[in-house]
Amino acid sequence: MQEHTTIYFKDYTPSPYTVDTCSLEFIIEESSTRVENIMTIRRQDPTAKVLHLNGEMLDLELLWVNDILYSEDMYTKEEDGLILPLDCDDARIRIINRIYPDQNTALEGLYRSGGIWCTQNEPEGFRRITYFIDRPDVMTRFTTKIIASIERCPILLSNGNLRGTATLDNGKHLVLWEDPIPKPCYLFALVAGDLGSITDTFSTMSGKKVDLAIYCDRGNEEKCHHAMRSLKKSMEWDENEYGREYDLEVYNIVAVDSFNMGAMENKGLNIFNSHYVLADEETATDGDFMGIESVIAHEYFHNWTGNRITCRNWFELTLKEGLTVFRDQCFSADMNSELTQRLDDVRALRERQFVEDSGPTAHPIKPDHYIEINNFYTATVYEKGAEVIRMMHTVLGREKFRHAMDYYFENFDGKAVGTEEFLESMQSQSPVDLTQFKRWYSQERTPTLKISSEYRSGSAELVLRIVQMIPKNTKNQDQLPYAMPLRVALLASDGSAYPLQSDDVTLMHEDVIWLENETNEIVFTGIPIPPYLSLNRGFSAPVNIECSELDFPFLMAYERDGFVRFEAAHQFGIETLEAMMNGGEVNERYIESYGAVLQDEACDTMFKSQILELPSITTLMQRQTIIDVVSIVKAQEELKQVLAKRYRDVILEMIDSLYDPTNTDIDGLSMGKRSLKNRLLGMVMSLGDKSVSALCEKHYYEALSMSERLSALDLLENYAPERASKGLEHFYTLYKHQTLVMNKYFSLCASSRRIGTLERVKALQSDPAYDNKVPNLVRSLIGSFARNPLAFYDISGEGFTFVADKVIEIDALNPQIASGLAGAFKNYPKLSMEQKTLMGCELERIKNHPNLSNNVYEIITKILEAS
Ligand code: BES
Ligand code: ZN
Repeated sequence: MQEHTTIYFKDYTPSPYTVDTCSLEFIIEESSTRVENIMTIRRQDPTAKVLHLNGEMLDLELLWVNDILYSEDMYTKEEDGLILPLDCDDARIRIINRIYPDQNTALEGLYRSGGIWCTQNEPEGFRRITYFIDRPDVMTRFTTKIIASIERCPILLSNGNLRGTATLDNGKHLVLWEDPIPKPCYLFALVAGDLGSITDTFSTMSGKKVDLAIYCDRGNEEKCHHAMRSLKKSMEWDENEYGREYDLEVYNIVAVDSFNMGAMENKGLNIFNSHYVLADEETATDGDFMGIESVIAHEYFHNWTGNRITCRNWFELTLKEGLTVFRDQCFSADMNSELTQRLDDVRALRERQFVEDSGPTAHPIKPDHYIEINNFYTATVYEKGAEVIRMMHTVLGREKFRHAMDYYFENFDGKAVGTEEFLESMQSQSPVDLTQFKRWYSQERTPTLKISSEYRSGSAELVLRIVQMIPKNTKNQDQLPYAMPLRVALLASDGSAYPLQSDDVTLMHEDVIWLENETNEIVFTGIPIPPYLSLNRGFSAPVNIECSELDFPFLMAYERDGFVRFEAAHQFGIETLEAMMNGGEVNERYIESYGAVLQDEACDTMFKSQILELPSITTLMQRQTIIDVVSIVKAQEELKQVLAKRYRDVILEMIDSLYDPTNTDIDGLSMGKRSLKNRLLGMVMSLGDKSVSALCEKHYYEALSMSERLSALDLLENYAPERASKGLEHFYTLYKHQTLVMNKYFSLCASSRRIGTLERVKALQSDPAYDNKVPNLVRSLIGSFARNPLAFYDISGEGFTFVADKVIEIDALNPQIASGLAGAFKNYPKLSMEQKTLMGCELERIKNHPNLSNNVYEIITKILEAS
């Protein structure tokens, strides 16, 4: 049995030594790379006598300390590093080691993606490149010399500014990069290969010129323009919104096909999953274009929130990730529609983070322990982290928030800090004490607000009673009530809001209640007639609301806050579907309200598409005590059919008027029209009508945008199988050589509701376009299958067995991807007895597999223990 050590936040101590400078030389050869690393080490703790350097999978060749060549008896070499006696304040360490990038399937450290050498060092990949003090509070000035074949690697990149190039003998060349700004080693990057590129320039607010370049496989250059436009918009936005300017002469982005995550903010040299760079109208959906814009922005924004001010240790991850997600959300809202963006963000939060927070892997946004830090790049650290920042933004208001950010940048630039320093910055401008608010950082699970009201006509008062229901944590301990800003309104029958007046609570910005107590009774005065309640406007706090007094039809028709209007439809949809699942009739008032929104001509097109989406399977599963996917899907399809039958003619007419097959523009209205059209087509496809499937088929072959074609193909797959095979074959033939499009193909097949999906997925593993060493392909084929509720939870249990096989198989190659896949078992505690037995066997089988990674071990044991 191997050891899986837990690391605790409470055990953090500053590093006894630090590395002031590091000069690296890489000699890249075909099957291995030689690394020479010269570090200047400085002692920070005068009592320290022994230096620990991290290092994994390294072939150590030579080691000098202060120019003395060390023999093997002068230090200790272990699996995970070197231990050497070092009793001096300053030292120069020189190390030569060899690494094997082609054999690196974990894609951490230096590895090869296609023909390209590239790195991924966050969080702890640098120790797979050379021996180092691999922790984010050690900040170092790096220089990088790269030597490689001119023919194989005409492009050689690293962090910072280019300082020199030279041609060498034997067809080799050399480049020298120097990064003037100290950084933790997780931000180190290197890229070498034969790459195409597009270039541009940006002139900063102080007039400095920055050279911008995006590198990709040759032939894909034309697909980089959207990413380049997004980069320039991000640079401009950070100057306008935060006064933050870029600080190097160059900003390079490289797109690679094999990448564990979406993208990485390495200083001056971002490395991206090609999915978040490459796009053109033929091959990318509207969602892909939006995703590129926001991920480019996210990584750019890290330059200030993450790189210049970094994390003291990995428990502080939300310091950079939550904050940077908040910043990219605001950017996307400014570039596109604020409401659309907010609804998408809230949807993502509830479908991923709320689910995580109620399951076995729940953790606070600032975790206090981990086995494998890679498992903590989660929806909680990211999306809930961003909501916590957003609450502070709501409390402070736009202007004070900006001042608080200025305080943060002024005081902590160049430092490795924690969320405490961020909170100190916020507190410096906050109208309220944030002490209790800090619980959002240390507690887990989602609170529910139980809200009721009482109207007192005599005194024209409305009493709002709010109780915070605080769930126990994963250790079954009680937790404390939160402080939060709750935006509310009391509405007159035309949808206008009464001004809020109350002596019982801190009211901020007119309509925000600062809620601190577990139970609250708030009397609002000056309310002439019983008002309609509008709660948690804009989703001002990341909580569930339970209130039986909400008038959904009213809110769907009259509420001016887009979020609450959407939410009314969403909650009404849930109520309707759950009644149907319990054998009830379809609620006629829901059908009418739905129809009213459908036919509301004043409604923004994209918003209409969002509000007309029925509650998802995930949403409904989340609410079940025992998972029953079949009954959810049955109710969903039935409701779709009822709606489609009732509004068939209206819908068909709308589809006709929205359909614009040659328009591939990506402005809000064009995307809104496609989204609404696809949604409506889905509604009427549920009727199984020949003429509608013929229409859908026509859209598939005729429309020029990938959004419409993919969505039509998906509908054919699920509702018109007789037409699907021809379409799928056509699609496959067109795109079999374009891996980013093949991801969509695999994902569509693996998400199918048709029977036989498991067999199909198994067969697709031997498709020439599939490769289980490429994370995107694993996610699109195996990951999509694991997220396909009908197939995964099939009563046979074969879905569980298949995914367990894949977790084990992929863990041997890439633990990070395997543990992502293992998350599919998170609903274990909520299964029926029979299913639980089946899944339980698979979980035990994984757990007992020899040489299991920390990554998978941590996830699987949490799931097993939760039961
Ligand atoms: N720093 C992360 C990338 C990362 C994550 C590296 C985990 C190593 C391990 C990067 O800034 C990031 O957050 N990327 C996201 C996309 C972003 C838009 C939320 C990702 O890769 O999913
Ligand atoms: Zn990030």
